[in-house]
Amino acid sequence: MAEQKQFVGKVEYAKGLEGVISNESTIGYVDGAKGWLIYRGINIMDLAEYSNYEETAYLLLFAKLPTKQELVDFKKKLVEYREVPKGVIEVLRQLPNETHPMAALRTGISALGTFDTKAEQVTVENCTEIGVKLVAQMATVAGAVARLRKGQEPVAPDPSLDHATNFLYMCNGEKPDDLSAKLMDVSLILHADHGNNASTFTCLLVISSLADIYSSVTAGIGSLKGPLHGGANEVALQDIMSIGSVDKVDDWVKDAIAKKKKFMGFGHRVYKAYDPRARVLGKYSMEITEKKGIKHLYDIAARVEEKVIEAYGERGIFPNVDFYSGTIYHALGIETEMFTPIFAVSRVVGWVARAIEYLADNRIFRPRAVYVGVMEAPYLPIDKR
Ligand code: SDX
Repeated sequence: MAEQKQFVGKVEYAKGLEGVISNESTIGYVDGAKGWLIYRGINIMDLAEYSNYEETAYLLLFAKLPTKQELVDFKKKLVEYREVPKGVIEVLRQLPNETHPMAALRTGISALGTFDTKAEQVTVENCTEIGVKLVAQMATVAGAVARLRKGQEPVAPDPSLDHATNFLYMCNGEKPDDLSAKLMDVSLILHADHGNNASTFTCLLVISSLADIYSSVTAGIGSLKGPLHGGANEVALQDIMSIGSVDKVDDWVKDAIAKKKKFMGFGHRVYKAYDPRARVLGKYSMEITEKKGIKHLYDIAARVEEKVIEAYGERGIFPNVDFYSGTIYHALGIETEMFTPIFAVSRVVGWVARAIEYLADNRIFRPRAVYVGVMEAPYLPIDKR
């Protein structure tokens, strides 16, 4: 720890804010030792099995499972909010072809805020309404990003389709089969919330200055983009593909360990046991890759998992949510660079739920750094330096 020169008394310095408590929340809880995750008290395994994304989004936003009528009304509202202003699509059209889809999504959501005349009303009530809008429109903007980068026209949302099915439809331009739609739905449920991860904390940080909810979510997208966070699933799939076949896995892992490489899609700040989301996604990865005739990708991934756990399991390094999701999205016909935007399409609800919760009892975030620089330096005139 750096020498503490500037603080009276003892201060704790936690690199990466490890173990630091920043706020209270009733939204969700990650038990890293047991490897389980709850949203509003409900186990993620039950939600993945029995719920759907719309119901899960309602649960996270409004702290209860909806009644039949509440769910009907909520779904209707999401459908009504799906269309985005034409100007947002025009902004996306101006971006260079090689723009990363996460950069395009970040730009699109930022632009979306400029078209909302109520964006500057930073109240819990208004941010909740915009939050619902953002849940609907993140999918539309991501769908448009997926199309435009391939030189294709965006596909208008289909009001007859549920959220996950419509999202896949807007990405691929054709209605998905039942298994593909179900897996997108399950994946959206599993990614919806996860404590004070980097992107969620970013959203809280931004809203804490009473900036608008679009600024908060735009910043969250920026944080999610990085390969240590949501971007890991892109690299994980690239690794799996570059290995090529199961018989090459052992040498690849050995070589990576010798080079002290970090395995993408493994390890976690909170989980020191198996990430429950990876359990569900691993199972579905096997099923969908088999159905789509690319089971070798699952087989390679499963062998990588086995070898990495053999080497690092004792240190608490297991697959995380980003390890198997890429194989699933690839099987659904989605380009690798679109994987992290899918994460954002789901996580937007966790971001807004937690930002609104924080806003209700707000205090601006303002941590401090331990100054370890020189204390007294002379100001030298420029010709004497
Ligand atoms: C997500 O926080 C969340 O909740 C995030 C998330 C969510 O839902 O929002 O769950 C989504 O971001 C999943 C994580 C995706 N990222 C990756 O898969 C990238 C690879 N993983 C890591 O780089 C790492 O595990 C992190 C970033 C996930 C966690 O970083 P930490 O907590 O800062 O851990 P660390 O880098 O300090 O590592 C601690 C030790 C080190 O060894 P020592 O120096 O102590 O000997 O564990 C080792 C690391 O070398 N280690 C790994 C490893 N991850 C940690 N070794 C090999 N491969 C890895 N993946």
